[in-house]
Amino acid sequence: MELQKISARQGNHNLQNYEKMRETFNWEDIQKNFSWNETGKVNMAHEAVDRHAQNPDKKNQVALSYSAPDREEDITFEQLSISSNRFANVLKKYNVKKGDRIFLFMPRIPEFYAAFFGILKTGAIAGPLFEAFMEQAIRDRLQDSEASVLITTPDLLGRVPQEDLPDLEKIILVGDHNENSDTYIDYQEEMKSASPDFAIEWVELEDGMLIHYTSGSTGKPKGVYHVHNAMIQQYATADWVLDLKEGDVYWCTADPGWVTGTSYGIFAPWLKGVTNVVRGGRFTPEDWYGTLDKYNVNVWYTAPTALRKLLSAGEEAVKKHDLSSLRHMLSVGEPLNPEVVTWGLDAFGLRIHDTWWMTETGAQLIVNLPSEEIRPGSMGKPIPGIEASIVDNEGNEVPPNQMGNLAIKEGWPAMMRAVWNNPSKFESYFINGWYVSGDSAYKDEDGYFWFQGRLDDVINTSGERVGPFEVESKLIEHQAVAEAGVIGKPHPERGEIVKAFITLNEGHEKSDELLEEVRQFVKTGLSAHAAPREMEFTDSIPKTRSGKIMRRLLKSWELGLPTGDTSTLEE
Ligand code: PRX
Repeated sequence: MELQKISARQGNHNLQNYEKMRETFNWEDIQKNFSWNETGKVNMAHEAVDRHAQNPDKKNQVALSYSAPDREEDITFEQLSISSNRFANVLKKYNVKKGDRIFLFMPRIPEFYAAFFGILKTGAIAGPLFEAFMEQAIRDRLQDSEASVLITTPDLLGRVPQEDLPDLEKIILVGDHNENSDTYIDYQEEMKSASPDFAIEWVELEDGMLIHYTSGSTGKPKGVYHVHNAMIQQYATADWVLDLKEGDVYWCTADPGWVTGTSYGIFAPWLKGVTNVVRGGRFTPEDWYGTLDKYNVNVWYTAPTALRKLLSAGEEAVKKHDLSSLRHMLSVGEPLNPEVVTWGLDAFGLRIHDTWWMTETGAQLIVNLPSEEIRPGSMGKPIPGIEASIVDNEGNEVPPNQMGNLAIKEGWPAMMRAVWNNPSKFESYFINGWYVSGDSAYKDEDGYFWFQGRLDDVINTSGERVGPFEVESKLIEHQAVAEAGVIGKPHPERGEIVKAFITLNEGHEKSDELLEEVRQFVKTGLSAHAAPREMEFTDSIPKTRSGKIMRRLLKSWELGLPTGDTSTLEE
C-alpha cells in the first residue's frame, strides 16, 4: 500500500522552518520570553497569571472561559491573579510553606484554578487528583505524597479515608457543608476575608511544582515530580506545536487530574497569554461541537477516543455548527488512527496533528507541526532541542525501520526530576544516557516515528493510563476473589479496555451476578475508568515460578495468539 501523505499547511505558522530550527536551536533562546530572564525571580504562577494581570493591555482579557451545564463564568487574568492571591493567603494562614504537598480533588470548576495557582504562589507543590478516583486511589496518593492539605468538595469528601491519612492536617471544602471540626476550612468564608495581595514566593527553576501520579505495570501508582523549569518547554511547544497566537481562543479537553490537563490545559495557554476554554460536564458530540462553535475556538487539543466518538456521530453533526474559527487541531494520549486523520480532513477541512509525550516527560516531544507533511499513523518528528531514537535493550540505537524502545536523549527542560519517594524507580527509566519510554516504535528513513505498542503491561483505555497491578490488588480484596490477572484488550473506540480474569475462593459459585458485583467493587473502590469492562472466571492465573502474573500469556489466550516462550511458567 502506498504511504499516504498530507502536505504541509500553508500559512503564517509560528515555526516555519523546522529543519533550520533543529540545527540552530538552543533551549536558552526561549528564556527571553520570561520575566525571570531579567529579574531573576521565578515562579510559574507569575509567568502564567500575574505577569498578564500586571500588563494594562492584558489584565482585562478573559483568561478562563468556563462553562458547564449548570454554570458559566468568564474570568480575566486580573481576577485570576487576585483569587489565587487570596487562596495563597489562606494557605499561609494555615502554615503552608514551600515544598509542602497540597492536593486538589475536585471537578473542573473555576475554584480549582484559583486554588491551583494559589498553591504555586506559596512555593508549595500541587497534586491534582482525577475527580473519578475512589477511596483506594485517593489513599494511595495522599499517603505516598504525605500531603498536608487537601482541597475538595463536600460531595467528594466521603471518598477521602481520613483515618488512614495521619499527615493530612486540613481539608478545605469548596461548597456548602455542615462540617465544623478544626480539620475543615470553609473556602468561601476564608476567601472573603483573605487579602487580595500576596507576596509571591520566588523559587528556583529546579524547585518542585507539581506531582502527577501515574501507573506502571508493577506496584502502586508513582508520583512523577515536576519543577518550575518545565515552563521553558511548555512555552516553546505552545508556540511551535499548538501554534498559539495573541488573541486566540484555545480549548484543551483534558482533565487537570492528568498531565495533559495541566501542561496543556493550564500552563501552555496561559504562558502564551491566550483565552483558555474549560468545559465541565460529560462528553457528548453535540456538546463538544456546541462548545467549539459558541466560543469560536481557534486551537483545539483533544484525544483519539473523543475523535473516534465524533467520527461515529457522523458528518451531519459537524455540519450543524459553525466551526469556521477552528484553525488548528491536535491529538494526544493514544495512537491516532489514520482513518481519523482522513476523516478530519473531510469533516473539518483540517489536519489533525498527533503529538506524543508522557506524564514523565512533562511536555510534548514528538509531534506533527503545521509546517510539516503529515504521514497519517505517524506521531511525527522530535521538536527542536530534542533527540529521539529507537534503541535496543542495552541502549544502542538501531537502524531505521527496525522496531525497538522509543527513547529520548536524557535532559530536557520539562523532564520529571524524580519519582516521589522512589529513587530506584526513577533510575530505572534511564539506560546508557537515554530515557526509555516503555513504548515500542520505529523510525522511518525520513525521521518520522511510528508507534507500535507498550512494551510493559500498562493499559491505555480511552487515553487514560491504568496499571494492572492496582486493579488486581483491588480485585483480590473482594471476599470471593482468590487471584486476579488484568490485561488491556483492544477495542475499536476506547483503544483498549480493562479485562480481568479471576479465580474464586472456596465456597463461591461462578455467576454473572458475582462478576458484576466484583466489577462494581472495583468501580466504587478504586475508580470508574480502571474498573474492568470485561470479566471472566478462570481456573488458574498463569504465573512464573517466582510468582509473577504472566499477563502476556493471558493476553495471548484472549486474542488467540501464539503463546511464545512459556519456559518460566509455573507447573
Ligand atoms: O503509550 C504512550 C501513550 O500514552 C503513554 C503515556 O501516557 P500518560 O503518561 O498518561 O500521558 C498521556 C498524555 C501525555 C505513552 O507511553 N501515548 C501518548 N501519546 C501517544 C501515545 N501513544 C500513541 N500515540 C500518541 N500520540
